[in-house]
Amino acid sequence: MPRINPSILAADFVNMQHELGRISSADLVHVDVMDNHFVPNLTFGPQMVGRIQDVSPIPLDVHLMITDPERWAPGYAELGAYSVTFHAEASSDPVALARRLRDLGARAGIALKPGTEPDGYLDLLEEFDQVLVMTVEPGFGGQSFMPETMPKLRRLRDAVTARGLDVWLQVDGGITEETIVTAAEAGADTFVAGSSVFRADHPAAQIDLLRERASSAH
Ligand code: DX5
Ligand code: ZN
Repeated sequence: MPRINPSILAADFVNMQHELGRISSADLVHVDVMDNHFVPNLTFGPQMVGRIQDVSPIPLDVHLMITDPERWAPGYAELGAYSVTFHAEASSDPVALARRLRDLGARAGIALKPGTEPDGYLDLLEEFDQVLVMTVEPGFGGQSFMPETMPKLRRLRDAVTARGLDVWLQVDGGITEETIVTAAEAGADTFVAGSSVFRADHPAAQIDLLRERASSAH
């Protein structure tokens, strides 16, 4: 079954607990941490994410768009995040960091910006539980899906299949009822959706619809 992880970047920040209650059909809650350095936007840090972790009935999928993930990522695993994904472009030693995250009990993910090629990571796939293929430039919600990232996703899917691995392939940015089909056909199994979920009248029903659309792809 495809996984749908709503991004709370599109939620009402001052009513977060209520917003979490509107996405009961989600697989994981996607939490975008931005430091105004790796990306030109600022969201929340460990203290806020720790409180979200305390009150969320659904486990957290933390996406770190930050410089120096070696310093900060382990803290998110320690506070109980189910999954912690850091950017390849920001990490000095992705394999060591992924091992540390796994040691701390989290799933370890590596994210690739649209312009980052996967070549250097194809031989390291077993070190990760998830590869996040960014389908927009990281930093903001509400942008348009970039179809030119799909060949990269296909290459990753082929590599995962060829090695018989269980690495989740996640897409993030501009996922709608239409683009989710394109991404599923290219090999994604895990979908982040911000605007399309939180702008819907019934977010939980929208999540089910997105999951259905992804399942219909082949
Ligand atoms: C962008 C974030 C995304 C964002 C997606 O940098 O990583 O998770 O919230 O938002 P939508 O679905 O609106 O493109
Ligand atoms: Zn994200």
